[in-house]
Amino acid sequence: MKPYLFFLLTLMTLIAVPLRAADKIELPPLHHLVGVKPSDAINVPKKFTLGDEGELICATCHGLKEIDKTPIDKVDTKTADFLVGGSYRKITGFCYRCHDEKKTQRDNIHLMLDEHGAIKKKQCEFCHEEVPDREKVKSLKEAKLRLPLTTICLGCHLKDPHFNAVEHQVKPAKDEMLKRIEKNSQEQGIIVPLSDKQEVVCVSCHSPHQYGVIDPSKPAGKQVQTKDLEKGVDYQPHPWKAVVTADKLDRLAEFNKQHDMKVAFSYQRIAQETLLRLPAKDGQLCLVCHDFKD
Ligand code: HEC
Ligand code: HEC
Ligand code: HEC
Ligand code: HEC
Ligand code: HEC
Ligand code: HEC
Repeated sequence: MKPYLFFLLTLMTLIAVPLRAADKIELPPLHHLVGVKPSDAINVPKKFTLGDEGELICATCHGLKEIDKTPIDKVDTKTADFLVGGSYRKITGFCYRCHDEKKTQRDNIHLMLDEHGAIKKKQCEFCHEEVPDREKVKSLKEAKLRLPLTTICLGCHLKDPHFNAVEHQVKPAKDEMLKRIEKNSQEQGIIVPLSDKQEVVCVSCHSPHQYGVIDPSKPAGKQVQTKDLEKGVDYQPHPWKAVVTADKLDRLAEFNKQHDMKVAFSYQRIAQETLLRLPAKDGQLCLVCHDFKD
């Protein structure tokens, strides 16, 4: 075969692979690309199996069998092997298995104010179709989000970013909770947005905005003040760590065995909370929805 023909054929298969993948398989919004062969900039560990042509396939990143034949909402993202290599505390930990950490540091888009307190307009457009005019835009409807509330944080964050997050992204089982949310959020002067189907979403608990982007005297702007947003959630060692950890060791081992997970436990106190509508460390946030008496 003439060399240029060989080159063309190779090129065609390279183009065909991504097309085939994109044609048939429905992927969630903002999903990672598939079907490409890693360049020299990418270092794929041996544990991650590539396809026959050395390309990214579903099984490179997902341990679930036949994930490409499962409807997206049926995929069990809670199993440890959903992302190859186990339960990652942060999604970036997974990305850095292949991508160079130093060269790919993410811009923390929640840092929205510059040193003069003016908004960094570029950041708004990650989530809003256009930069909202803060004098005029006064509700979720007018805020023109790029994606529904159920998916707007995904892609950058895991659906399961922390303990108990997935269990929360459901419609409250009882109507009493919905009534409580309405009453308590009004009394507390905050908003607790729910999805179209009344499901709890990330922004029911979290504010996406840095403190001060939305006027803090308004319900949408009332939130926990964070001194060092760049640092994010911060924990403090606690003198009882060894005692509390030892106390939970057996039960945790049992839990991990039962659920095929690798949850580790280390008792710490929260030193700084971030991007929350109300503090959670003293239970205020939880009590907007829960009544732990029943
Ligand atoms: C390079 C790694 C990579 C490859 C290859 C890959 N994925 Fe993913 N996939 C991810 C990551 C990362 C997520 C996001 C997890 C999150 O945000 O919760 C994800 C999420 C998903 C989800 C969403 C689950 C949910 O409920 O949100 C589905 C479904 C999925 N992938 C299917 C596939 C299929 C099908 C293929 C093969 C065509 C594939 N993936 C290939 C990395 C990959
Ligand atoms: C199994 C290895 C692997 C993992 C894990 C992985 N990637 Fe990738 N990623 C690749 C490959 C291969 C490419 C194609 C580009 C290349 O080869 O240089 C790519 C490309 C990308 C690109 C496009 C870059 C461009 O130049 O267009 C982005 C963005 C990206 N990855 C983000 C992520 C994020 C975010 C995660 C974690 C959620 C992640 N990747 C996890 C292998 C991986
Ligand atoms: C990470 C996603 C995200 C980014 C980035 C973001 N927003 Fe928002 N914004 C939302 C969501 C979600 C809502 C609806 C829930 C809420 O108000 O907290 C919203 C609502 C708003 C509202 C309506 C508040 C009200 O009174 O109801 C305004 C105004 C707004 N955003 C302005 C901005 C500005 C200005 C920026 C850029 C500095 C920005 N947003 C960046 C996600 C985002
Ligand atoms: C925006 C409303 C809301 C907030 C805020 C909230 N929860 Fe929940 N919580 C729910 C819903 C909805 C469920 C699902 C069960 C139900 O419908 O009763 C749930 C379930 C739970 C469960 C049972 C989980 C399981 O495994 O089934 C626990 C434990 C819990 N919440 C604790 C907390 C704690 C602790 C906080 C504060 C950090 C908190 N919740 C904040 C709405 C909320
Ligand atoms: C364009 C990407 C992007 C989007 C969209 C996004 N985030 Fe983030 N978020 C980040 C980055 C980057 C950080 C910095 C910490 C890190 O790298 O994990 C961060 C940090 C956070 C933190 C603080 C964690 C810490 O310890 O610093 C919370 C809470 C958070 N985001 C919630 C949300 C919520 C809720 C949404 C959806 C409304 C959202 N994010 C949408 C990129 C994003
Ligand atoms: C029921 C309330 C609730 C829901 C729903 C929820 N979170 Fe959280 N989240 C919290 C609390 C409480 C913390 C603890 C940190 C703090 O106190 O500031 C936290 C912490 C975080 C952190 C920092 C974790 C760390 O250890 O660095 C990120 C990132 C985050 N949440 C993102 C999300 C995203 C994305 C979603 C939706 C997929 C979500 N959360 C849903 C309450 C919630």
